[in-house]
Amino acid sequence: GRLWAVVPAAGRGTRFGGEVPKQYLAVGGEPLIAHTLTALCAHPKVDGVVVVLAEADAHWPGWQAIAGKPVVTCVGGSERADSVLAGLAALPDSVRADDFVLVHDAARPNLHPADIDRLLEYGRNDPVGAILAAPLRDTLKRAGDDGGIDGTEPRERLWRAFTPQLFRRLQLSRALEAARDAGVAVTDEAMAMERQGLRPLLIEGREDNLKVTTAADLALLEFLLGSR
Ligand code: C5P
Repeated sequence: GRLWAVVPAAGRGTRFGGEVPKQYLAVGGEPLIAHTLTALCAHPKVDGVVVVLAEADAHWPGWQAIAGKPVVTCVGGSERADSVLAGLAALPDSVRADDFVLVHDAARPNLHPADIDRLLEYGRNDPVGAILAAPLRDTLKRAGDDGGIDGTEPRERLWRAFTPQLFRRLQLSRALEAARDAGVAVTDEAMAMERQGLRPLLIEGREDNLKVTTAADLALLEFLLGSR
């Protein structure tokens, strides 16, 4: 089967407070999303990418191919699941219902090829699929309304979910539709699969596969990309 990636990039993403959505902020002289798409397209096993854009996105540079791989766009929705569903629907017919698809946040540009390799190696041999993730390293506190500590949560067995996440095209569509119909806002694709009683595999990934959310992340990202 063919391997395509769906990249949700339809978030207004302005927790920075600026006018430019975070996926278009300049990092190392290029928009952040350029690094993300290059990381995917430059991987030998990736055949193409669907980028999910916000309606009337004036920032999208209009790429139709990157590293020789086709780049297709479609319009997303108000929830992440709506955007990913739109992306899955926009995949070419050459991606069959039971083919695996990578879903990767536009806001995670520091993706290393070895992480993609490991996700594919293990995920394609799992009946459900797999996600990149990392175990928690910090102690977890539950906050009270007054800012005081109400308790400490056990962190054993707790992992942070990253992307890419690898699932079969049709099974993921069905799971995301079910979550949407139930009015449950899923924050990653695995959560939709879990709701179906499925158990994706956790694959330990690099901790520097960070999701750019704040200005501090942007400075760290400049450094990480500069030292690759
Ligand atoms: O907001 P957050 O950082 O969780 O977004 C993760 C990714 O999902 C981003 O790349 C964002 O552009 C995308 N997204 C989307 N459609 C939405 C919300 C978020 O494509 N409705």
